[in-house]
Amino acid sequence: MQAILETRAVTKVYEEGSIKVRAVDNVDLVVERGGVLLIMGPSGSGKTTLLSMMGCILRPTSGEVLIDGQTVSGLKEAALPDIRKKHFGFVFQAFNLFPSLRAVENIEVVLRLKGWPKADVRPDALRLLGQVGLEKRADFYPKDLSGGEKQRVAFARALAGDPAIILADEPTANLDSKTGKEVLALLHEFARSADKAVVIISHDPKAEELADRVVHLEDGRLQGANHVI
Ligand SMILES: Nc1ncnc2c1ncn2[C@@H]1O[C@H](COP(=O)(O)OP(=O)(O)OP(=O)(O)O)[C@@H](O)[C@H]1O
Ligand SMILES: [Mg+2]
Repeated sequence: MQAILETRAVTKVYEEGSIKVRAVDNVDLVVERGGVLLIMGPSGSGKTTLLSMMGCILRPTSGEVLIDGQTVSGLKEAALPDIRKKHFGFVFQAFNLFPSLRAVENIEVVLRLKGWPKADVRPDALRLLGQVGLEKRADFYPKDLSGGEKQRVAFARALAGDPAIILADEPTANLDSKTGKEVLALLHEFARSADKAVVIISHDPKAEELADRVVHLEDGRLQGANHVI
């Protein structure tokens, strides 16, 4: 079966004045449908940079990113927001919820961004909140939610518009171990669907237990002989 997401010799060089940092160096990765891929590695090893290129947030300096076998890295910057909206849901360590919006509105705003008509967003946002067990918190502001609840709202938001791929950067880093486990279980469940995939960055041993494949980055390079997963 065709890979859902793939990187080919993907490389990112950051240039800060005269200093060049090769943050990701020649990474070949194949993400198959129906599983969780875990990216591990020390701080500064290029994990977030790699995930950002996979999610078309950041363009590679060289190399290719393919979604469903189609290269997207050659597209113009202006085409990338649509690619992101169509294919990806994102979950971050810091939750990144809008503080001035209620839980349900945080999801609605993403649905609107994805082109849903205004009249349709409320029922779907509530349905998504229900999916993470938070229908009763729909009208709460982020400041009134626990860390685990905030991350569940963030996960519900990542599900908005039914993306095929969820990219999660240290989603449990700010959670206690029990709530972290719940969030990982949600990601795992999502990835069980045959046409979905999750790529997660985590240091959490529980993430390692749940992952179908684990890859290690070191100084921007993938470790181990077999890069195809
Ligand atoms: N915008 C940027 N400009 C310049 N250098 C950057 C930028 N973002 C990251 N870097 C550098 O690229 C390297 C990889 O950073 P990245 O954030 O991808 O690492 P990471 O593995 O996610 O680390 P952490 O575990 O601490 O989150 C680091 O040396 C970092 O300093
Ligand atoms: Mg990082």
